[in-house]
Amino acid sequence: MSGRSARGAGRAAAPGPAAGRDGGYPGGMPEPRTFRDEPVSFVRRSGRMSEAQERAFAELAGFYVLDVPRDVAWTSVHPEARLDPAAAYGREAPLTVEVGSGQGHAIVAAAGAHPGRDFLAVEVFRAGLARTMLDADREGVRNLRLVEANAPEVLATYLPAGAADEVWIFFPDPWHKKRHTKRRLVRPGFGATAGAAIRDGGVLRLATDWEDYALQMREVLDEAPEFERAFEGEWAERFDGRVMTAFERKGIAKGRDIRDLTYRRVPRG
Ligand SMILES: C[S@@+](CC[C@H](N)C(=O)[O-])C[C@H]1O[C@@H](n2cnc3c(N)ncnc32)[C@H](O)[C@@H]1O
Repeated sequence: MSGRSARGAGRAAAPGPAAGRDGGYPGGMPEPRTFRDEPVSFVRRSGRMSEAQERAFAELAGFYVLDVPRDVAWTSVHPEARLDPAAAYGREAPLTVEVGSGQGHAIVAAAGAHPGRDFLAVEVFRAGLARTMLDADREGVRNLRLVEANAPEVLATYLPAGAADEVWIFFPDPWHKKRHTKRRLVRPGFGATAGAAIRDGGVLRLATDWEDYALQMREVLDEAPEFERAFEGEWAERFDGRVMTAFERKGIAKGRDIRDLTYRRVPRG
């Protein structure tokens, strides 16, 4: 894909680009600890943003970052806020949503490789969002937008029902200590959350290098009435649209097996 830079382009500027300088949340809003009385799957990461990252927010967020009305915390989404995909992307096209997109390597590569599709990166890590915008701009990727928000809220309410053709969750934080597993993103009830966003027949793709999290994902989604397995045998084939990220490389280096899972959205009644 090619074209002019997205610097300074776009819709209304995204909120408070410089305000997260210390890694905190803009607007003095509180850090979220829970959503609907359940713990969120992330903790705030401290550390200053680099100058380049700050510049990315100042110059590129207006084009790439969707301006989401907030609820109780900076990473929350107001329950009445709804994405209008046609307005956000300027067209209608199948939408892939990546939850926890990290540095954006997978989604920027996919958006560049599939100009006929639209992509949405959902992430709470500001430096990762900045990296994603810088790479997308350098590659001339325009069919990508970013949301800085807690993913379950994005899936459950911000996306209109059935708006996503695919949802990807690659190497979500494993929360591997026994006392922390309740913070995992894919936990009982997640089928309904993801199932709200995915169209009938659409696909949910997951990958992890933690065996017991892979088992938990499979158990949760096997039991979810919204989904059916789209793989035979124990695990899915490696999704060939998934680029190798540092998290996958680290898992392999530590001798862990990488497990993919693929589920299909069962048609709504
Ligand atoms: C281990 S990293 C993996 C990043 C990327 N998928 C990859 O494979 O390189 C998990 C990412 O998920 C993000 N994350 C965790 N919980 C989230 C949530 N509830 N909403 C949005 N992002 C979340 C974290 O900030 C982190 O960047």
